[in-house]
Amino acid sequence: MKTIHTIQELRAELSAARAAGKSVGLVPTMGALHAGHASLVRRSVSENDVTVVSIFLNPTQFNDKNDLARYPRTLEADCRLLEECGAQIAFAPSVEEVYPEPDTRHFSYPPTDSVMEGAMRPGHFNGVCQIVSKLFMFVEPDRAYFGEKDFQQIAVIRRMVADLGFKLQIVPCPVVREADGLAMSSRNTLLAPAERAIAPQIYAALSASRDFAKSHSVAQTREYVEARINAIEGLEVEYYSIVDADSLADVTNWNDAASVVGCITVYCGSKPIRLIDHIHY
Ligand code: PAF
Repeated sequence: MKTIHTIQELRAELSAARAAGKSVGLVPTMGALHAGHASLVRRSVSENDVTVVSIFLNPTQFNDKNDLARYPRTLEADCRLLEECGAQIAFAPSVEEVYPEPDTRHFSYPPTDSVMEGAMRPGHFNGVCQIVSKLFMFVEPDRAYFGEKDFQQIAVIRRMVADLGFKLQIVPCPVVREADGLAMSSRNTLLAPAERAIAPQIYAALSASRDFAKSHSVAQTREYVEARINAIEGLEVEYYSIVDADSLADVTNWNDAASVVGCITVYCGSKPIRLIDHIHY
């Protein structure tokens, strides 16, 4: 595997691959890789001749500078994992390489980017669109792989791809969970043992709500999930929204949309760490 730090070198490497008729898969990451990322990389490796994994902690998507400061940084271990998964290129540019000028572009795809995480983290999805659009321009992939754990992020990126006319396929990949149900996330390493012990209650409540929903309304199901999680000391629901899986607009009845998903963010512990998850109804 090659580790590349500049756009120029990346383009030279990829144009040689393209000239040889090879397909290119991109897995965008912010590093601190875990088994969830590994599943995306393995999928890309199985579907493309060349897999590029970007490792870039994108400052423009962090509205909370403390969150950026404490985000885990594990480049050496990340590169070892990518080698094991069979990726051909790790692209790890500096902030100056990616943003030689401040990025003043503004992206707006309501309601996908204005509800839930968009409402709680102003500017977050604008930053995601800034970096992902740049990565698409640098790499020009045939396919780009994103984890469904960030359900809302995929909906926003789909809108951006349609808006800007990128010729690539977005490949959503299933959430990878720990044995106790907790969705894998780079932020899980920041949890203290007692916090880690209660965090699986989030998915337990979501899973139980699927049965509950069969005989209750959307509003009652929302209350059930919130009450069940808030009853656990150390967990506090920031929002639980039950939405149309495509537009992410709130639904009031189960048959308001072809596919309905519940998206949750929970504060865990005293620091606190924000954990997100979702469930399909
Ligand atoms: O999901 C992430 O890790 C990030 O939002 C992404 C897509 C790599 C953009 O920085």
